[in-house]
Amino acid sequence: MTGPDGATGGRARVFSGMQPSGAVHLGNLLGALTSWVALQDEADCVYSVVDLHAITAPDEHDPALLQQRTLDLAAVLFGVGVDPARSTLFVQSHVREHAELAWLFNCVATFGELGRMPQFKEKAAGRDASVSVGLFDYPVLQTADILLYHATKVPVGEDQRHHIELARDIGQRFNHRFGDVFTLPTAILPPVAARVMDLQDPTRKMSKSSGTVKGVVHVLDDADTVAAKFRSAVTDSDGEVRIDRAGKPGVTNLLEILAAVSGRSVEAVADEHAGSGYGALKSAVAEAVVAFLAPMRARSLELAEDPAELQRLLAAGADRAREVAAPTLDRARAAMGLLPPA
Ligand code: AMP
Ligand code: TRP
Repeated sequence: MTGPDGATGGRARVFSGMQPSGAVHLGNLLGALTSWVALQDEADCVYSVVDLHAITAPDEHDPALLQQRTLDLAAVLFGVGVDPARSTLFVQSHVREHAELAWLFNCVATFGELGRMPQFKEKAAGRDASVSVGLFDYPVLQTADILLYHATKVPVGEDQRHHIELARDIGQRFNHRFGDVFTLPTAILPPVAARVMDLQDPTRKMSKSSGTVKGVVHVLDDADTVAAKFRSAVTDSDGEVRIDRAGKPGVTNLLEILAAVSGRSVEAVADEHAGSGYGALKSAVAEAVVAFLAPMRARSLELAEDPAELQRLLAAGADRAREVAAPTLDRARAAMGLLPPA
């Protein structure tokens, strides 16, 4: 980060966040984190452990666990390759500007557009009256996260596409009504594995909170556990290895995972395995995933041993984040006509 106004010396600004709501899995890694790490070469990256988002769903929020999960997630983010020398990584609740800008945006966002968000509809299905207002408002806080840093690129998995479009809409509406304060962001999705599916139920996405026990591969799983999960992956009964997302979701998911971890196209991977049986395909995927995860797992576990160092890195990250967030918030407050404190 180079300037307090958010100037980045010509480099694009990137922002993304991840909730400390459970162990990081292969979907998080291939859908989002691989892009987080790669973008560091070309952009000024700001990443956040979004703890305020993790308290929006009571069934996923355990106060006794949240601090530990926050540190554990930071260890994994550094462990997979977020580089504190080049990027800013901080805990969302340490930068109070996020919550305050979310309030300002609450007065710009509409009830209708939030009610249409697919993720809200899914999570609130059948229990609208008992879900928290925070869950409903979740995408507004996410909008504040992104717009505080003038981010133009937001690396996320496919399930976040609508939230990023909403952030654009809210930013545009604010600018139109109050003057040009915010930069409008675009989602960056990976070319393959933007939606990694649960190995046991390949019609559902792999998920921190609602996945099956054997269907979710964690970044911190040891080699035997990873191999066992792939061995028991659900496929289909026609025995042919080919890409067909709708008709063969299990096999297609395995091909996408293999393509992502080996840096090849899914077509190339499918061609190579066209004559194989499912057993051989599963072994090949397991082996490639274990090799891909090994160095990340080792670094993450090592970092998790030193919570004081993690806290120091996160504090430095929050200081840097605040340098950009505070002036942006001041501009938004002024644009809306709030009296500055004397
Ligand atoms: P969350 O686990 O909801 O905090 O998600 C963190 C990031 O991982 C977001 O960018 C999501 O889009 C991405 N993500 C979560 N689950 C998956 C999945 N199954 N496949 C691909 N990306 C995912
Ligand atoms: N909603 C995102 C998720 O669950 C996490 C998130 C919060 C985020 N704020 C963000 C992602 C800002 C990108 C940008 O995955």
